[in-house]
Amino acid sequence: MDQKTNSEGAAWLVFGLSGQVGAAFAQALAPTDPPCIAVSRQPHPAGRGVRWVQAGLEDFQCVDAIGAIASLGPLDAFADWLERSPLAPARVVALGSTSVHGKRDSPDAGERVLAMSLRTAERRLATVAGARGIALTVLRPTLVYGNGRDRNLSRLVAVARRWRVLPLPSTARGLRQPVHVEDVAAAVLACLREPRPRPGFFDLPGGEALPFDQMAARALAAGAPGARLVRVPGWAFRFGVRCLRWLGGRPGLGEGFLDRLGQDLVYDGGPARASLGHVPRGFRPGVEAFPARVAPQHREA
Ligand SMILES: NC(=O)c1ccc[n+]([C@@H]2O[C@H](COP(=O)([O-])OP(=O)(O)OC[C@H]3O[C@@H](n4cnc5c(N)ncnc54)[C@H](OP(=O)(O)O)[C@@H]3O)[C@@H](O)[C@H]2O)c1
Repeated sequence: MDQKTNSEGAAWLVFGLSGQVGAAFAQALAPTDPPCIAVSRQPHPAGRGVRWVQAGLEDFQCVDAIGAIASLGPLDAFADWLERSPLAPARVVALGSTSVHGKRDSPDAGERVLAMSLRTAERRLATVAGARGIALTVLRPTLVYGNGRDRNLSRLVAVARRWRVLPLPSTARGLRQPVHVEDVAAAVLACLREPRPRPGFFDLPGGEALPFDQMAARALAAGAPGARLVRVPGWAFRFGVRCLRWLGGRPGLGEGFLDRLGQDLVYDGGPARASLGHVPRGFRPGVEAFPARVAPQHREA
């Protein structure tokens, strides 16, 4: 019997289970889900329904019968891997990013390269899926937060905790739609569990669009209560960031990021709602979104 007709109950192969979204995905697994084979470059003890394989996307070879694949790690490396692999599971669900839209015209060359590589990876996956009869779903989350492992809002909160103030340019009013990590994991699981696959490319925004400075204020209220948001003129903020760079500091705020602070990055969640039942929550982070310390195995590399 070939893999397509034998996919019922066959294992799910998961890349990125050790990551931010992967942790939420692992927590949401149900006893009725098929067993998972999780690939990580680090060693992990076996978990409930999860067998870990220590390997990277560069060298992993699958020898098991696989019903579906979830890619919760880098999309371009996953496209490389799927092209090389002979697997043809019934469905593949892969996380991309709305950066494919938002960074396409960035003044930052590195960000334009990222957007292009995401777009190219999506196309390559579509080609493989088409050739092998795989139902491919690509989900593009916006800014992900929720378990303290993000590299965006948690960084703002860390600055505010340390200095008790967070300077932001007064121009930081562009709309954002942060999406909770559990809502992203739920969308991936819905695509895997639905009796019929839901192929397509879907933007996956959060349930609320709010200006960047309001988003930052709510994050501070949850993670650094009492810290103040200080609005400075846009030119002064940009000048300060450039000075930090000239002095050898690494503020991690590129020209693209600074430009986008005033731009609306708003994506249509309608198709994901209609096809996947994705009904994400609004942005109301609690203390759990910004824990004081993240467990060692949960630290960002
Ligand atoms: N974070 C966001 O705000 C955001 C927004 C939009 C889209 N996304 C996308 O969503 C996905 C998940 O994001 P995340 O924040 O959960 O990522 P993350 O926390 O950085 O986790 C990345 C995961 O990818 C795995 N990985 C990385 N390189 C690998 C390799 N060469 N071989 C095997 N596994 C590899 C890591 O596993 P090991 O280190 O254990 O090997 C880890 O589990 C990514 O595709 C990201 O681009 C994220």
